[in-house]
Amino acid sequence: KQLLVIHGPNLNLLGIREPGVYGAATLEQINAELTKIAEDAGAKLDCFQSNHEGALIDRVQAARADGTAFIIINPAGYTHTSVALRDALAAVALPFVEVHLSNIHKREAFRHHSFFSELAVGVICGLGPAGYRLALDYALAHSLTSPA
Ligand code: DQA
Repeated sequence: KQLLVIHGPNLNLLGIREPGVYGAATLEQINAELTKIAEDAGAKLDCFQSNHEGALIDRVQAARADGTAFIIINPAGYTHTSVALRDALAAVALPFVEVHLSNIHKREAFRHHSFFSELAVGVICGLGPAGYRLALDYALAHSLTSPA
């Protein structure tokens, strides 16, 4: 099975960026761990990060035709702003889990609203990189047992 993890803007700076909020792990370390877990489960994981809204939209649109069964997405700052990225996920109609490293609900009020949550299968926030692992566990179980 083909799974996709998408990281939004500034997540390329993980490890350097506000480590008190986002932790010490780099994006490379997170992606390497997720890729290994997926491979051990007999699945393939594609990891994509961009700081550009349009590039994120293009990657979501490509998932419609490239065999992706499930998406794990941290839209980062676009969580709170991007109708267009949300629309892309609605358009491809693939199941996705929304992940945030930090607990967005215990932060500034402008982070409390997500344009993605009502379309997501589920939302994980506040657990750091473990949130991606939990989302991947779910995606593996879901995509391996789903009929298509
Ligand atoms: C984030 C939370 C967002 O509010 C923020 O803009 C990010 C990262 C998180 O993973 O905690 O860039 O999505």
